[in-house]
Amino acid sequence: AGPATAGGAEPEVEVIAHRGSSGAAPENTIAAIRLALAHKSDVVENDIQRTRDGELVIMHDLTLARTTDVEEVFPDRAPWNVRDFTLAEIKQLDAGSWFAPEFAGERVPTLAEWVNAVGDRAGMLLEPKSPELYPGIEADLDEELRSLPAFNRALRADRVVLQSFNHVWLRVYKDLAPDVPVGLLYGVKPTEADIAAAATWAQQVNPALGVIDQATVEQVHAAGMEINVWTVNGGQDMRRAINWQVDGIITNYPQVLRDILRRG
Ligand code: G3P
Ligand code: CA
Repeated sequence: AGPATAGGAEPEVEVIAHRGSSGAAPENTIAAIRLALAHKSDVVENDIQRTRDGELVIMHDLTLARTTDVEEVFPDRAPWNVRDFTLAEIKQLDAGSWFAPEFAGERVPTLAEWVNAVGDRAGMLLEPKSPELYPGIEADLDEELRSLPAFNRALRADRVVLQSFNHVWLRVYKDLAPDVPVGLLYGVKPTEADIAAAATWAQQVNPALGVIDQATVEQVHAAGMEINVWTVNGGQDMRRAINWQVDGIITNYPQVLRDILRRG
């Protein structure tokens, strides 16, 4: 979906599954991707970090403690930061039981496993977390992603965006990978000056729904960019964002949003 064009039909709002269908499956796992696809998501969002041995894995928190059984498996390794564990160690962890017993045995996916699981079935919204903690991660990301045929197909089909809260780092990545669309995440309302500056090099402005108003949506569109809002889990908020004509809604419940869009 892009900004409305004069005389054209209203664009459809994209359903973006936040960490996969994370309301119904353990976030950022292959099970969450499968459900996101079953829930007819247009795009799947993720979070990316780097292990001690330089592998890229899908994990939101800097620590493994909340979403795996790391405290039981490695009791003496507090504070259980992702960057202090090798991929082989992380692959021993159960990333599903914390959510519900039926997901026992889910593993933390690598970035490659995640990209291959999404494949051609949805778009990809990639979010390296705290990239300032991982020196050189922009080069690691670029090398890894370009080695994956599914990523290259998605790039050619204009179904990939890489987003970050760290706008200085994102600019470094964009200079390295100018053909990859990028999005600026905002936890506070972007000013008109922020939006004008972003439009010189970024393709999306992606703020929290709660910090913006309809004028923000109009400003982003007038600047020629798209706007996706997060993390929108209630029906009333979904309808508000749809009325404002955002391009995409990032939600833990893509099935709820799909249903609202279908019923109109
Ligand atoms: O996609 C936007 C959203 O994911 C940003 O916040 O903390 O859920 O990564 P967070
Ligand atoms: Ca995220």
